[in-house]
Amino acid sequence: MTEPPNAPLTDGTIAVRLRRVTDLDAIAAASHDPETRHWLDDAPMDADARRTSLARAEEAWRSGRATPLVVADAKTDEPLGLVNLRFRAGAEEATVAYSVFPAHRGRGIAPRAVRLVVEWALRELGLTRVLLEAKEANTASIRVAEKCGFQRIDSRGGGAGVTVVFSLGRA
Ligand SMILES: CC(C)(COP(=O)(O)OP(=O)(O)OC[C@H]1O[C@@H](n2cnc3c(N)ncnc32)[C@H](O)[C@@H]1OP(=O)(O)O)[C@@H](O)C(=O)NCCC(=O)NCCS
Repeated sequence: MTEPPNAPLTDGTIAVRLRRVTDLDAIAAASHDPETRHWLDDAPMDADARRTSLARAEEAWRSGRATPLVVADAKTDEPLGLVNLRFRAGAEEATVAYSVFPAHRGRGIAPRAVRLVVEWALRELGLTRVLLEAKEANTASIRVAEKCGFQRIDSRGGGAGVTVVFSLGRA
């Protein structure tokens, strides 16, 4: 079991909070975005996946497997994207994954969300470090890692499929 934050994580511009039923239209629409599908493994959200979305998110928290969170506008609460920590069993580290819905890209939303989640994970969850994996060709995502202060620690694969592994730990 991983305890969600007591209150939304916020920097005054965005808030990172639990998923709500009112987020599902935006999440479902973004799940069909070709750019998102190209870089992330998640399948497009069909009617079944939509119906079970909140229950699956709760189960991920309960099992301690992942922390599915929504990135929202701090003032209007409009959902802008998704951010998630995925845990490996027994490890004191997690991997952060993120997407920003197409209409909201290029405004620094992902770096804000990743910073808030990493601070929370290191402070409240007691993790020693957070990992971030991005395809070398995904320049937007590589920039997010760099802007948040992650250090490259490894790379896997070859050719167009090189995955860069980044790490950010306790200061
Ligand atoms: C990667 C992603 C989360 C970045 O989110 P974001 O909030 O747009 O991040 P930023 O605003 O900091 O922009 C990051 C980079 O995106 C690129 N970018 C800028 N404007 C953009 C726009 N309108 N649309 C797309 N990319 C843009 C730039 O390279 C920018 O780097 P820069 O600030 O050095 O110019 C977002 O592009 C996305 O959701 N992509 C699809 C899913 C994905 O790849 N997830 C990560 C998997 S590892």
